[in-house]
Amino acid sequence: MRVKRAMGILALAALGAAGAAAAPPAAGGSADDARVKARVEALLAKMTVEEKVGQCEQIAGAAIFPGAPKPDEAIARGAAGSLLWLNDTKKFNELQKIAVEKSRLGIPLLFGLDVIHGYRTIFPVPLAMASSWDPSVHERAAAVAAKEARAAGLHWTFAPMLDIARDARWGRIVEGAGEDPFLGAAMAAAQVRGFQGPKLGTPDRVLASAKHFAGYSAADGGRDYDPAYIPDAQLHNVYFPPFKAAVDAGVGTVMSAYMDLNNVPAAGNKWLLTDVLKRDWGFKGFVITDAMAAGSLVTQHFARDRKDAAFRAFTAGNEMEMASGPYPEHLPALVKEGKVTMAQLDAAVRRILEIKVRMGLFENPYVDEARAAQVIGAPEHHAEARLAAQRSMVLLRNEGKTLPLSTSLKSVAVIGPLADSMTATEGSWMVFGHTPAATTVLAGLKAKLPGAAIAYAPGPEIRRDFPSMFDAMFPGGNKPAQSAADADAALQKAVEAAKGAEVVIAVMGEEANMAGEAASRAMLDLPGRQEELLKAVVALGKPVVLVLLNGRPLSINWAAEHVPAILEAWEPGSEGGHAVADVLFGDVNPGGKLPVGFPRSGAQSPLYYARTTTHAPDGSPFAGKSRYWDVLTTPLYPFGYGLSYSTFSYANLKPAAAQVRVGAKVAVSVDVTNTGTVAGDEVVQLYVHQKAGSDSRPQRELKGFRRVALKPGETQTVTFTLGPDELRYWSSSQRKWVQDAEAFDLWAGGDSNASLHAEMTVVPAAAAAARK
Ligand code: BGC
Repeated sequence: MRVKRAMGILALAALGAAGAAAAPPAAGGSADDARVKARVEALLAKMTVEEKVGQCEQIAGAAIFPGAPKPDEAIARGAAGSLLWLNDTKKFNELQKIAVEKSRLGIPLLFGLDVIHGYRTIFPVPLAMASSWDPSVHERAAAVAAKEARAAGLHWTFAPMLDIARDARWGRIVEGAGEDPFLGAAMAAAQVRGFQGPKLGTPDRVLASAKHFAGYSAADGGRDYDPAYIPDAQLHNVYFPPFKAAVDAGVGTVMSAYMDLNNVPAAGNKWLLTDVLKRDWGFKGFVITDAMAAGSLVTQHFARDRKDAAFRAFTAGNEMEMASGPYPEHLPALVKEGKVTMAQLDAAVRRILEIKVRMGLFENPYVDEARAAQVIGAPEHHAEARLAAQRSMVLLRNEGKTLPLSTSLKSVAVIGPLADSMTATEGSWMVFGHTPAATTVLAGLKAKLPGAAIAYAPGPEIRRDFPSMFDAMFPGGNKPAQSAADADAALQKAVEAAKGAEVVIAVMGEEANMAGEAASRAMLDLPGRQEELLKAVVALGKPVVLVLLNGRPLSINWAAEHVPAILEAWEPGSEGGHAVADVLFGDVNPGGKLPVGFPRSGAQSPLYYARTTTHAPDGSPFAGKSRYWDVLTTPLYPFGYGLSYSTFSYANLKPAAAQVRVGAKVAVSVDVTNTGTVAGDEVVQLYVHQKAGSDSRPQRELKGFRRVALKPGETQTVTFTLGPDELRYWSSSQRKWVQDAEAFDLWAGGDSNASLHAEMTVVPAAAAAARK
């Protein structure tokens, strides 16, 4: 990939021009829209074909490819609309000056970069943020990330990633909201609001990019970049909803995905990018390919050559091309030959210029270099990051009330290869050039227990069996492997440390480069010798707490039976170590819930709760214990699951009316009570099941959730609304959206196995009206 990227840049040196297809930009109507339109049309009227194509090209910042040609010349020639893979405030101004003062039309550049879960202040990874089941936390995190990124001179983030992931083997599950489209859509909209603010051009915010459209997460075998075969019904009902939510929330750009979707590359997929996204959903922004994806159409044996690739990517609906060069190389000729019309090129350029105008780049092209130091890493950002980490942690097990621990502990052993790893604490996807700087769990524990003796021993190291193509960019990624003898000694040392302590805190899981792009796994167990170490310390008979740092669900089957307390801390970010200590010592009562079930084995993947079933649902006489004879069918921990230091009970689940018309809404309420002795949060979840219909319907689907804070003994009534948005679905048999008049089961509770049950019936609109 690095090589490919470098080649992309080299190709760019010879720049020409580019462009894409599709519908006209926002029709608008307001004075603001008229102003934007006038400015865009005035520019367009002056542009040459090459300049138009230039706006459609995103070039790579030379910073990450030493020796690559400098982008200055292309920018001066008007041959670049945007730039990525550069993270240098001063340089941004230098390049922008070239665009604004030296290029013929002075059109400013958009500087884009992957700011996924923070710029300098790092928030928990998106999968963790989804575990908060609190969209407001995710919105604020995105706003902080935007503020820091903008202060650094960036305008555009390639986030949020909205791929619904039901296969934990796929490493990029870490970047999304997990397995469920309803939760995913809520988190999608929250992130768009957080990144962009109420409208494009809001100060301190950035342009967002909903990615990867669409189906990337359904790669065969969980292997990153492999093809996805997704039936229409699943695309519409599962994979699209977060993207639709992002579009409805006003996302300015969408990134098309790499892989083949039903044998048509997503980047060359007109149905996806033009018919669904722009025609059906009315998306008014622009689409950018993923990195090198246009050129990759040739590798995918879809396009004949790079010219054909440019043609197909452009006419499919990618207005902008990321860093591989086929647009500048071939679009001008395609226009000249009439294969791409000037109207198509203009339509693409309009969308891009419109975003630039709305972002205020023409008025404010430069970044205030002095301000960056005041904004980036501000104390209030760290406070938000700590809160987000606290809220995203999920307590998986707490036998005999092992947790919370007492702060009067005198000796604690902190073991495991991730206990003092800043990279594992910050997690996957740091911005280019980021220096790890997190408070590790070890540091957090030391701060929490200043008087205690803390023995630290990491045990054997963990590493990937096969290196990542990104390892060179990963701090420590290239360090030589530990010898077997050193690993044995490290294991022994960790056991010795545990022997001398009152409590053992084992910090284990996956290093940051074990999840993310090009980080698929076949097995989902604890890598390396972590479980061996865990067994050895549990055998000592002391209280052991397992803190997991990881970017995907793990099959921790042994731990789930033998380790008394397990906290899923995910990759919790800059303040992760403090937040872990806050939870372990009871300053914070954990209230996060899993946004994805934990499989018992990688071989169960894909695994998700909202599935349809044939005649033998689990528990029926035909089912047996499992569909497998060697592993249970059920997940180790179900979707929506998470414990608290308190307990909660549910009662009085009822729809406001037993019958609701097709198209109408009904309120559904449930009482939740804190039955424990401490205050805590519970995520109240509402699941529905349509008993019959045009198509088979999933056994359960999440259709409402709310995180509530309850004092001991307190009861709250939580009310959800069910209406056509929640009850309709795209039907395979009808080939359209339907809302059936059918009977429904409802369940409410604290996870996807919720047992409190009620029923309601949706009746035909006319029949209900007639009965009135
Ligand atoms: C990833 C995208 C990312 C892009 C730019 C690609 O390899 O798939 O998610 O935005 O690189 O860095």
